[in-house]
Amino acid sequence: MKFFVDTANLKEIQEAQDLGVLDGVTTNPSLMAKEGITGEDKVRAHYKAICDTVDDNVSAEVISTNFDEMVREGLSLAKIDDKIVVKIPMIKDGVKAIKYLSSQGIRVNCTLVFSAGQALLAAKAGASYVSPFMGRLDDISTDGVALIQQIVHIYQNFSFETEVLAASIRHTMHLIQCAEVGADVVTCPTKVILALLNHPLTDKGLAQFLSDHKKAQEASAQTVA
Ligand code: E4P
Repeated sequence: MKFFVDTANLKEIQEAQDLGVLDGVTTNPSLMAKEGITGEDKVRAHYKAICDTVDDNVSAEVISTNFDEMVREGLSLAKIDDKIVVKIPMIKDGVKAIKYLSSQGIRVNCTLVFSAGQALLAAKAGASYVSPFMGRLDDISTDGVALIQQIVHIYQNFSFETEVLAASIRHTMHLIQCAEVGADVVTCPTKVILALLNHPLTDKGLAQFLSDHKKAQEASAQTVA
């Protein structure tokens, strides 16, 4: 299972990369705006900086919504670095753009997916990744993990190579549920990956080990003296 971080914040990306378990990054226009990155040159430089921080898989989203413009933007984003995966929204022209860009050997992440039918279209069009938004479905009282499971099942039925990238992951339970149903990738804030570390029995056990070790050392020092 791949771990991506869902952020355009370089510090957060570096923190996840330093942990040694990071496989990629997803961004979107809202996340780029949050970092104050606007204007073509700044946007390209920022994507390049992200690519220089991680090993592969940097999703960069197009802003256009018609076929010609999405293709132009996608080709241009892909030139920034071989690690770029062009992110295209699940709309009619988007499906055409996914088909075209994939046929040119460019990896595409189909975003804003909320149904199995949309995921099927994305796979048929040749997307490398499909991004169902689990958290946003949960937000409207719809079972996000059920959708992930359904898409995994459909892709297995037909041996689609499109990877299921569970997006909008808000907490560790989301992440674990995605692992249980076989999502290929999860993307989430770095803090969600770090939260996987937490267990009070680990903290308690480590404190005990260190304290026992210290006591034994002190006892042996007294014996020698
Ligand atoms: C996916 O690629 C999106 O960037 C992201 O996961 C959306 O998450 P949110 O619903 O927390 O904004």
